[in-house]
Amino acid sequence: MPQTSKKMSRDDSVGSALRLCEEASVYQASEPKPRFIDLFCGIGGFRIAFEKAGGSCVFSSDWDKHSQITYEANFGEKPEGDIHSVPIKNIPKFDVLCAGFPCQPFSIAGVSKKLSLGRKHGFDDERQGNLFFKLAEIINHHRPSAFVLENVKNLKGHDKGRTFQIIHSTLTEQLGYKVYYKIIDAKSVVPQHRERIFIVGFREPRHFEFPEFPEKGPKLGSILDSNVSDKYILTNNLWTYLQNYAKKHQEAGNGFGFGLVSENDTTRTLSARYYKDGSEILVSRGKGMTPRRLAPRECARLMGYPDSFKIPVSDTQAYRQFGNSVVVPVVESIAQQVIQTLSRPSDHRPELVLSFCEDGDSILQDNTAKRVPARYKTKREMMKVAV
Ligand SMILES: C[S@@+](CC[C@H](N)C(=O)[O-])C[C@H]1O[C@@H](n2cnc3c(N)ncnc32)[C@H](O)[C@@H]1O
Repeated sequence: MPQTSKKMSRDDSVGSALRLCEEASVYQASEPKPRFIDLFCGIGGFRIAFEKAGGSCVFSSDWDKHSQITYEANFGEKPEGDIHSVPIKNIPKFDVLCAGFPCQPFSIAGVSKKLSLGRKHGFDDERQGNLFFKLAEIINHHRPSAFVLENVKNLKGHDKGRTFQIIHSTLTEQLGYKVYYKIIDAKSVVPQHRERIFIVGFREPRHFEFPEFPEKGPKLGSILDSNVSDKYILTNNLWTYLQNYAKKHQEAGNGFGFGLVSENDTTRTLSARYYKDGSEILVSRGKGMTPRRLAPRECARLMGYPDSFKIPVSDTQAYRQFGNSVVVPVVESIAQQVIQTLSRPSDHRPELVLSFCEDGDSILQDNTAKRVPARYKTKREMMKVAV
């Protein structure tokens, strides 16, 4: 679409902008609930988010039997197993493909662990790396209106950017989707620093913007229980070991340390290995006291799961499941934007920005190329009025 930049008086432009807002507010989606599929569904973080945003799940798959138990307890349906054993044509018709595809071949930990074992990594890891191509095959066969993929932040830099370049070109050049991606830190919605890359694609060349998240988020105190079983307190032996280990590494100039946090803090990233020693997130119980781990229910909250979410598995499995999951409110905001984008005509370009200039004049301009002069932003003389 050509960029438009039109000079007009302040009254005219305010009137136009308001008319645009009115038009936008009367727009109603004519489509029924968008159908989505929940691949590598784990315990259903994507599902809660997309259902809350108005979607309807028509298929789910995850081969982990403990995750299947949690998923079934919460959604009344057991996910299909290994995605390789599901004939693609048997997947029902859907509009949006959701997948937090397995991150191990791409994560820093995964890469270093595998390299140290002399194993291949990334796309060379035959069993897991090719799961992306499975997704590509499903997209190619069903041609959904959109997809939302999630992975670790390191996907972007893996193998000097080559892995992401292959993923991006497969989705854009080979499959023909218009692709947007962004690394989002969940700390603005939960008290956890957790950066993940989200890749959103549209079959038609739609304009999409990732949701904006607030700068400041909640603190740990908001998700802690006041009454937690003593079984979550570290043993003296483990606590002494962790302190000595951290000291040794600090003296050697390495970064390793445990993550001791209090009510006013934001935690490190909860990992799927939290059940091992819990060292990344240890809750302080006061000076001189041995800290404790988070209880599984607190981990659920740390990932943005509602308290109504059932946890029918052992603590070990629950820690693994939440550590592998997505932060639900982050995905929910993305889901809302995706569904809203799909409900508009594919050539919709909503971003008209009304800029007030220093001379009192104003410019109404297309914002798709972010052409608002920087000086208006810094002087707070720009007012964003349109949808
Ligand atoms: C990063 S987790 C996704 C978690 C999920 N997004 C959630 O919110 O809970 C990746 C999942 O992929 C599943 N998985 C890995 N390989 C699979 C395969 N070949 N078929 C089906 N599921 C698989 C794992 O069991 C794991 O639960």
